[in-house]
Amino acid sequence: MIEKTAASAPGKIILFGEHFVVSGYPALVTAIEPRAVVRVQRSENTTVVKSGNIIGVWGKGGEQLYPPKNVKNHLQPLHDMAVKLLEDHGVREHFKAEIDSQIPGSAGLGSSAAVSVAFVKALSDLYGLGLGLEAIIKYAMLAEREFHGTPSGIDPHIAALGGAILYNGPGKYSRIQVNHPTPVAVLHTGVRRKTSTMVAHVQDFAAKRPDIFRELAELYGQVLSKGLHSLEQGDVKELGKWMTVNHILLRALGVSSDPVERALNDLLQLGMYGAKLTGAGGGGCVIAVGPETSYSRLRGLPRHYQTFFTTQIACRGVVSES
Ligand code: MEV
Repeated sequence: MIEKTAASAPGKIILFGEHFVVSGYPALVTAIEPRAVVRVQRSENTTVVKSGNIIGVWGKGGEQLYPPKNVKNHLQPLHDMAVKLLEDHGVREHFKAEIDSQIPGSAGLGSSAAVSVAFVKALSDLYGLGLGLEAIIKYAMLAEREFHGTPSGIDPHIAALGGAILYNGPGKYSRIQVNHPTPVAVLHTGVRRKTSTMVAHVQDFAAKRPDIFRELAELYGQVLSKGLHSLEQGDVKELGKWMTVNHILLRALGVSSDPVERALNDLLQLGMYGAKLTGAGGGGCVIAVGPETSYSRLRGLPRHYQTFFTTQIACRGVVSES
């Protein structure tokens, strides 16, 4: 009997199409390092989920033992996802899970989806369930819905599949071949925000001004096809240009903010070809591509940026770890 397993899944950046994807338009997303690792092991009487100093403990009947019932348990969506997974497969056992994520949270980099996907894979390995990628995504979606309300599903898909995909809705995607090494700079504004609030804002905009939303979405469609073409050609200069145009459309949807605009300008000042917010916006991360020499200049950015790094796109998806 296997006693312990572990799995990891990557973070992500959306190169084109956040928010439009919630309304049914395709988006181009790619997996990036850093990753989230989840370790699970068998347990006697209680189920424990731990992430840094946040801990959740549940008893034999699934009742919450810690934190006290009247305190919000931030790990509840992961527990609920795991319970459903085990119930569906006739497993009546307890486990301990430890989450170690290197992906900044609430920053547009898909940290919760990476954790959910790695969690499902680690449990599947522990109990010998043999879940394939589609099943892993299905269960991770349960937690994502609890975390974010009405997500498009793009984050768990890329965390599971890895590489780069053109995402068109749950189960509908095509893989994009990235044949040219494409470094991307990622800069965290330091402002955390809630995906569900930002999504609600755009959906409200779309409901109140369907005419304007449709026009922006049509423009977005053209930006996506130009951007995709430049990525496939390895034309980083063009890619950057179209990323900036995508950002302008997101700004028009009202999901940029002062910190995002400052980060974007700071990146462009370094000589980047183009930049955009990634994920839900409002804060979180801004990404940029530029000439090789521009990436080393990131070190000269003001110190208030909590995190910046350069990453290669299209890294591997969920994998078992030893
Ligand atoms: C998710 O990373 C970005 C949004 O498009 C929401 C979603 O697709 O679920 C804002």
